Amino acid sequence: MGYNLLKGKKGIIFGALDANSIAWKTAERVHEEGGEFVLTNAPIAMRMGALNTLAEQTGSEIVPADATSIEDLENLVEKAQEILGGKLDFVLHSIGMSVNVRKGRAYTDQNYAWTEKGWDVSAVSFHKTMQTLYKKDAMNEWGSIVGLTYMAAQRVFPDYNDMADNKAFLESIARSFGYHFGKEKNVRVNTISQSPTPTTAGQGVKGFDGFIAFAEKMSPLGNATAQDCADYTVTLFSDLTKRVTMQNLYNDGGFSNTGVSREVMDAFVKDQE
Ligand SMILES: NC(=O)c1ccc[n+]([C@@H]2O[C@H](COP(=O)([O-])OP(=O)(O)OC[C@H]3O[C@@H](n4cnc5c(N)ncnc54)[C@H](O)[C@@H]3O)[C@@H](O)[C@H]2O)c1
Repeated sequence: MGYNLLKGKKGIIFGALDANSIAWKTAERVHEEGGEFVLTNAPIAMRMGALNTLAEQTGSEIVPADATSIEDLENLVEKAQEILGGKLDFVLHSIGMSVNVRKGRAYTDQNYAWTEKGWDVSAVSFHKTMQTLYKKDAMNEWGSIVGLTYMAAQRVFPDYNDMADNKAFLESIARSFGYHFGKEKNVRVNTISQSPTPTTAGQGVKGFDGFIAFAEKMSPLGNATAQDCADYTVTLFSDLTKRVTMQNLYNDGGFSNTGVSREVMDAFVKDQE
């Protein structure tokens, strides 16, 4: 159900790969709330053509951009304003990738060229996106920028590998840029720390099935789905959260503040009555 929360608002949505992507669900939800946007992804990710379906479904145009390339980002920000007819109100950065994770390289045996690629794609691309928007003065006042993160930035999840460090870097960039964007342009910047979610990126992490099942049992409200994340993002793009900025916001069913749950304890109790 729509509430017209984003009527008249324009933006850019990065990172929709397929129908499981958090960005895909968010695009559908933003469309439902009356927002208009340009969809973007890395040229290589668009080869399978799934994004065209989403573009048709939401009446959007696609502008390819590798989020690590300033040239691509400048082109994207210019084209998006042309297509949408003015400055932007919201931007979703839904991008993450670790080559070490992909190639099964242990955290204690990093290939540093891959480590560097991972932090450029997963964290610095957020800075590059915001710097491009900032320099081009492309955001409207009271606009909202959201990045997606995971709690491995605060606590150790061994198989999350170097993505944990990339997420800590991403969250720090959100705070640091959030200050400047707030001060100079009244734009807010936040990260959403999302439950494990069955997407292409999520399932790339070793032991994902066990991990998502554990998180489900630990969280009093259960894991937040991609759909829940889309809903939360809509509130952050809306005018109802105007002074929420520089925050890392948990959308995780209570996982991050739960020490242990009854269900997890039960799995360790041998003799139950
Ligand atoms: N799935 C989870 O369990 C989970 C949990 C918490 C946070 N997150 C975060 O959510 C975000 C979205 O991931 P998802 O789970 O929807 O998976 P996904 O695989 O659907 O999306 C990741 C996207 O990043 C894009 N990407 C990779 N390199 C890029 C580049 N150079 N330029 C532009 N785009 C590039 C991919 O093409 C893809 O669309 C990521 O930041 C991820 O770390 C995911």
